[in-house]
Parts: sequence; C-alpha cells; structure tokens
Amino acid sequence: MSKQGKLDFSIFKRLVKYLKPYRRILFLAFFCTLVLAVVSPLRPFLIGKMVNLFIIKEQNASALLNWSLFLLGMLFLEGLFQFLGSFSSNLLAQSIIRDIRHKLFAHLSTFKMRYFDNTPIGTLVTRVISDIGAISEVFSAGLIDILGDLLMLIVVICFMFFVNWQLTFMVLIPIPLLLFATRIFAKAMRKSFQQEGVQVNRLNTFVQERITGMSIVQLFNREKKEEQAFEEINAAHKQAHINAVWAFSIFFPVVEILSSLSIALLLVWGAFQFLDNSHVDPKKMYEEIFQFTLWINMLFRPIRQLADKFNILQRGIVRADRVFEVIDLQEHVQDSGTLTNVDFNQDIIFKHVYFSYIDEHWILKDINLTIEKGQTIAFVGATGAGKTSIVNLLGRFYEFQKGEIFIGEENIKNIELNSLRKNIAIVLQDVFLFSDTVHTNITLGDPEISREQVIEAAKAVGAHDFIEKLPNGYDYEVGERGGVLSVGQRQLLAFIRAYVYNPHVLILDEATSSVDNESEEMIQHATEKLTKGRTSIVIAHRLSTIQNADKIIVLEKGEIKEIGSHAELLQKEGYYKKLHDIQFS
Ligand SMILES: Nc1ncnc2c1ncn2[C@@H]1O[C@H](COP(=O)(O)OP(=O)(O)OP(=O)(O)O)[C@@H](O)[C@H]1O
Ligand SMILES: [Mg+2]
Repeated sequence: MSKQGKLDFSIFKRLVKYLKPYRRILFLAFFCTLVLAVVSPLRPFLIGKMVNLFIIKEQNASALLNWSLFLLGMLFLEGLFQFLGSFSSNLLAQSIIRDIRHKLFAHLSTFKMRYFDNTPIGTLVTRVISDIGAISEVFSAGLIDILGDLLMLIVVICFMFFVNWQLTFMVLIPIPLLLFATRIFAKAMRKSFQQEGVQVNRLNTFVQERITGMSIVQLFNREKKEEQAFEEINAAHKQAHINAVWAFSIFFPVVEILSSLSIALLLVWGAFQFLDNSHVDPKKMYEEIFQFTLWINMLFRPIRQLADKFNILQRGIVRADRVFEVIDLQEHVQDSGTLTNVDFNQDIIFKHVYFSYIDEHWILKDINLTIEKGQTIAFVGATGAGKTSIVNLLGRFYEFQKGEIFIGEENIKNIELNSLRKNIAIVLQDVFLFSDTVHTNITLGDPEISREQVIEAAKAVGAHDFIEKLPNGYDYEVGERGGVLSVGQRQLLAFIRAYVYNPHVLILDEATSSVDNESEEMIQHATEKLTKGRTSIVIAHRLSTIQNADKIIVLEKGEIKEIGSHAELLQKEGYYKKLHDIQFS
C-alpha cells in the first residue's frame, strides 16, 4: 500500500466531493467554529482587564458585576454556537455517510457472483458498516474541528503578542517540545489504528461465519476449538486497542507537564520583573499573568487535541480508501446489452459453450443444445457435473468464455440484463429466505403483488395448506435464511415466488437433500404445475420427478453425453440407464 502513513490527498478530495449537496450545513458548521475561535480568546483578555480595573485599581463592585454579567452573556452565546457547530457538523457527517453507504450498497448489488465467491461476507459487512462509520468522524470530529483549533491557536497567539510579546516568547518555549511529543504520539496512534482496522475485520468475518455455520460447529463438537480461535483474534483486537491506550496514557501526562511548565515560566517572568523593579507596573503585571494563565490553557488544549483529531482524520481516510476501493471495483457483469423487448417465448440455443470458474479448468465443455419453446427439459448427472453452472450462464450470473447462447435469433449478451432476468425465474438449489414473513419472502417486498395473488399461487403449487398451518399463516416469520422451515417447505416457497412472477422461462434446481415422501409429492405436483405451458429447465436428482420431461440431457464432467426422452434413454443402455438402475434398484 502506497497510501500508508501520510494523508492521501486524492482520497481526501474525493471525500470532499460528497460535501457538495450539503454546502449550507457545512457553511453553518464553519461559521460557528470561526466565531468560537475568535470569541473564546477574547474572554481572558476581558477578564484580565476587569481584574486590573475593577479589583486592583478601583475596587468597583458594580462595574465588576455588570461586566461579569456581560461575560456570562458571552459564555451563553459561545455555548449556543458550540451547540450549533457540533450539531451541524454531525448532521453533515451522517448525511454524507448515508450517501456513501447507499452508493456502496447499490454498487455491491451489481457485482458478479464470482466476486462474492471470493470475498468473505464479514469483510463486506465491515466495509458497509464500520469502515463507513469511521469516515463519518472525518466530518464530525476531524476536519472542521482541526480548522477551528488551528484558528483558535492563531487568534490566541495574536492576542498574546498584542498584550506582551516578550512574555509570549517565554511561555511558548515548551511548545516545540509539545509538537515533538505530538508527532511521536500521532505516529503510534496511526499504527494502532491500522492494526485495529485489520482486527475489526477479522472479528466480523469470524463471528459472522461461525454464527452462520453454528450447526456444523456444534455437530462436530468444535465449540472448544472455535472458542480458542476466537480467543486469539479477540486478544489481537484487544492488543491493537491497548497499543493506542498506551500512547494516550503517556501523551496526556506529558502535555500536562508541558503546560504546567509554561505557567511556571510565566511566574518566573513575574519574579524577574520584581527583582528588576525599575519600570514595572505591578497592576499591569497582575493583569497579564491572569490573562496568560487562561490563554495557556486555551493554547495547549487545541494542540493536544490536534494530534487526536489528526488521527481521527487519518483513520477516516484509511477507511475511506478501503471503501473507495470497493466502489471503484468494476466487478459487475458486462451489461452492454440494450434489447428490452425480446420475445422469450422462443427456442433457447446453446452453441459450443465453454465455461470455467477458474482459468481454463473447463466446467462446461462444448455444450450444444436446443431447448424448444414451451417444452420441459431436464438435466441429470452426477454431483459436480455442471448442471447448476449451465443454468447460471443463462441468467448471466457468470460469464462464459467461449460460444454463444441465443434466445430465438438474439444473442443473450445483447439483451439488457434486467430484462433478461425478469423473464427467467430460477428456483435455486439452496433456497435463500430473508428474515421476514412468508408473504414478503414470496413477493420479495413488491407491493404490486397482493395477498390474494400469493394465496392463489400457493394453492396452485399446493403449498397453501402447509402455510395456513403455520402459527401466523402468511405472516409467519421464517427466521434468518428460513431456518425454521424444512428444506422441502423452503423449496415450495421458492416455487410460489416463481409462480407469482410468472416468467417465460422457468428453471428449477432441485435440492439435493432428500425430503420426506409427503413433501416430495407436493414438490412433484408443484413442478408439474409450474412447468406447464412455459419453457422449463428442471435439474433433477430424483429421476422420478422428470420422467415426463420432453427431453432429458445427461451431463457428465461438463459434457453432454446423452439426449432423449425417458423411454429412449432407457433403451440406449447408457449413462441414463445406469443412473436409473442405481436409483431404482
Ligand atoms: N462458484 C464456484 N467457483 C468455483 N467453482 C465452482 C463454483 N461453483 C461450482 N464450481 C465447480 O463447478 C463444478 C460444477 O458444479 P455445479 O454446481 O454446476 O454442479 P452440479 O451438477 O449442479 O452438482 P450438484 O448436483 O451437486 O448440484 C464443480 O466441480 C464445482 O466444484
Ligand atoms: Mg447443482
């Protein structure tokens, strides 16, 4: 990584672009910070004057009271500006990260499946949630505050010079030391931030995967082992934090000592003035000591915080870099197709199609195939033969390397991706359900699909009865990934999903896991219902499901070995016959 360490300005510039729609809020935040930076240092100046004039010189109680009330008013105003400033900068930060998060999520949803095959879910969750969270701090606690602090420093130093320049030099002596300490601190913090980022990601990925796979963990008695592995990551995460705490714990006392040193120097200066009492005005001296004591505090606080805030800025930039990396990825399927009104009620033709997931390890070799419109064809073959891969190509979830696929006359690469996928419904092998109601899982949140339509579809595929028996019927919460439903029931829900979408082309990828007889019957019935009157591709593991298919295609190791009807293939005494005998013997 070339970006390590220094503030990368290009990332910063990119972040700033997101500010554009919120210029007004930004302006308000800046304005408040500006006012505060100028008004706050004025207060010590006035207090010093008040001490001199109304206490030492005249002992004028009523003037002192009036001026004190004035100061109180000033404080109140400062408080108001502080509130406005911090509110607006946080509002700004939240608005911006909402935009970035939105963009990232929308971008991710267009990625090819291959990207998700290779990227742990935990990493993506970290990007979308915590990395973007850290970016928000760039705006809420970093950028504007740093400018405010710098401005305040300048104003305070100007005031000090204006009042007494020799004294200013005196109390500024410890500042180079402070800057030096700040630098070391910032470096240590940066390192631990980077470590922390890595560890947070590891934690997210680990926890996410173990929770998803908890049944495996428990099934194989891996609890202790996983606990130990977790302990290790957890400890590393802690260590990354502790490193930061170390730096903090050393830095703050150092700052404290240095600011006390400034005050000590101030007193030393006072003492020398007395010793050399030729032209000292003690009243003036009291006033200045008063003012400088207050200013020194104002000076050290921003410098100390600068290091802190600079780190926040840095962390935000490092995280933004990672988020932008994902936003910059061009991992989506090439959607160069423009055709939107292709008739899908036509033959589907595969011509010399070759496909591999990795390099040249061909998973599908020279596939030539015509699926006639309205027919039902079935793929059979051993596990890993490439059945699911073939149908993935049709929906363009993966790109094939050689050959062509046509719908009628039209190459599917010329068809707009949305239009293609709208016309093809795929019931996946492992049905994914969202943690939501049965109804929403069927409609996928499409408000156009009414409850009546859902019920009608459920009745058509023969799943209405089982859904009715669920505790809340169609409003039953299926739990994450449909965890509380059986495999067969999940498959039936997916069937209903496909049925209400009423696609031209239907693909059913049968679940490998065996379901009970009753479910099997229901699924078989649903399959018949669904495939009727449309081009359908059924991938079957149970040969009983597909005996009525118009055409059965036997795949082995990515190659088509046999094509024919059930009866034809049985006669051939080839691969299909063998499969059949194994299943029915
Ligand atoms: N996302 C992927 N990345 C890399 N290789 C994959 C991927 N998906 C499948 N494969 C490989 O491609 C081959 C064909 O897999 P495919 O899922 O098409 O088989 P299948 O015929 O559907 O098997 P099953 O009957 O078990 O569902 C297998 O060797 C598998 O390991
Ligand atoms: Mg499969």
